[in-house]
Amino acid sequence: MKIALLGPPGSGKGTIAKRLSKSFKLFNLSTGEILRDQIKKDTLLSKELKKYMDRGELVPNHFVEEVVRLELHNKKRYVLDGFPRKIDEAKATKDFKLDLVIYLHVPDEDLIKRLADRRHCQKGLHNYHLIYFPSKKPGICDIDKSKLIRRKDDNPKVIKERLKVYHHETEPVIKYFQRKKILRTIDGAPHPKEVYKAVKRVVKEYLR
Ligand code: AP5
Repeated sequence: MKIALLGPPGSGKGTIAKRLSKSFKLFNLSTGEILRDQIKKDTLLSKELKKYMDRGELVPNHFVEEVVRLELHNKKRYVLDGFPRKIDEAKATKDFKLDLVIYLHVPDEDLIKRLADRRHCQKGLHNYHLIYFPSKKPGICDIDKSKLIRRKDDNPKVIKERLKVYHHETEPVIKYFQRKKILRTIDGAPHPKEVYKAVKRVVKEYLR
């Protein structure tokens, strides 16, 4: 079972990927998380990646594709969060033979609210939302008790740029997988529980 999640920034790809990974025992690959781990290191590569990510732009293909190929080597059950997100990356998935691409559709105005109020723990492992998923103690992670912080690219100027990049570079990927007849569209606007129910239904239909 090889699934890719497609959708704008803040559409819930990470939230849904974690749940799918748990319920269906899938390896969860988030290119955003891998890149964020990379930029914590003090290397020439990390400085280069950081420039793109801080501006809300996509990083060049060769950085991402190589990592994805290495991570997926010999894996047969996975969910991809954030890959592919441009046409060249979509073409590269021919080698992986994806079974299902789930597109989470959410209007831009909802995305802006979600991203502006998103917080995560200092290790970047646990995510919250000030309104939809608040931590029990304000500003503190329920799990590792570290302080909650905002992602660097979750500021209004960069959010605007990420949405622009999404409409320009990722929307054509939706049409690409539509033509391949493996795309399923889910309304990503309702409460996460409802969205996950709809996603699970689609995955189960595929497994039947
Ligand atoms: P990445 O980390 O993938 O960021 P993104 O695509 O902008 O997506 P987000 O992580 O912001 O949102 P999400 O859709 O996962 O939503 P989430 O579940 O967190 O990429 C970051 C950067 O890395 C890119 O800008 C680019 O530079 C680079 N990059 C990554 N992959 C690349 C690639 N393949 N090629 C080139 N460059 C790449 O939810 C968001 C918030 O909303 C959370 O607070 C959550 O709690 C809340 N929420 C979730 N679902 C709901 C719901 N249904 N209702 C209400 N709130 C909800």
